[in-house]
Amino acid sequence: MIVCKSPAEIDRMRAANGLVAAVLTDLASAIAPGVSTGELDERAEAAIRAAGATPAFKGYHGYPATLCVSINDEVIHGIPSRTRLIAEGDIVSVDVGAVMDGFVGDSAVTFPVGAISEPAALLLRVTQESLYRAILAARPGGRVSDIGDAVQRHVEAHGCSVVREFVGHGIGTAMHEEPQVPNYGPAGRGARLTEGMVLAIEPMVNLGRPAVRVLEDGWTAVTRDHSLSAHFEHTVAITGDGPLVLTARDDERFDEVLASAGLATPDRVETRWRKRTRLR
Ligand code: MF3
Ligand code: CO
Repeated sequence: MIVCKSPAEIDRMRAANGLVAAVLTDLASAIAPGVSTGELDERAEAAIRAAGATPAFKGYHGYPATLCVSINDEVIHGIPSRTRLIAEGDIVSVDVGAVMDGFVGDSAVTFPVGAISEPAALLLRVTQESLYRAILAARPGGRVSDIGDAVQRHVEAHGCSVVREFVGHGIGTAMHEEPQVPNYGPAGRGARLTEGMVLAIEPMVNLGRPAVRVLEDGWTAVTRDHSLSAHFEHTVAITGDGPLVLTARDDERFDEVLASAGLATPDRVETRWRKRTRLR
């Protein structure tokens, strides 16, 4: 069953989601060569608890940390560690979830560390663009698979590939609600999209082949061919006024990214895009 949220509930979801956005903005400034993924995790957990919120991932099916930090060929669910150091040229995917006011927020960004290779930069750009295109497809009257179709078309047009084993999801009082939101088409399949649905849309995109495997730790998913992988995720409410990106970051320029992909930003997305949440 898909649980739709009232406008008042969507408003309440701003707390957790705004916090998640602020944590990602803060981590962007902390990520540097020599910093451990464990330090990032401690920093994020402290910020979440200081805001009166709770990490959403910690304890989820036994997951041991606040963040997932996945470097280079790691796709998702990398477990933070004090001994895992970030290096110049890495791409670092950081996934954050928090619970506040009874609702969950969920968002991820892949950050470049210093100067990255040209293919790595292409992967980051294409994956973020695919998320933005997917967000534009999250409109009443469409179908769930319109979202994945938007991702897949953009990703494959640029010679990258879409991970199939993991999907986006409905989100609300629980982190994972119905429907599942695959990152591939064809369009026109699955549940009808309606006002009040809130979806975590999260393309995972590989530079090489799509296949992944999970490491011995039981969590870390890596590309089978060891090619680089990127992950961008936003929690998005479907409204009659267009998609409302609950995890939008202050410094994020939706309009610029879409324009560089040759797309105009509909006014109704842009006007709702900017929203201030700061860590105390
Ligand atoms: N964004 C991921 C998801 O939606 C984060 C889950 S990590 C887990 O599934 F450890 F909590 F599973
Ligand atoms: Co998610």
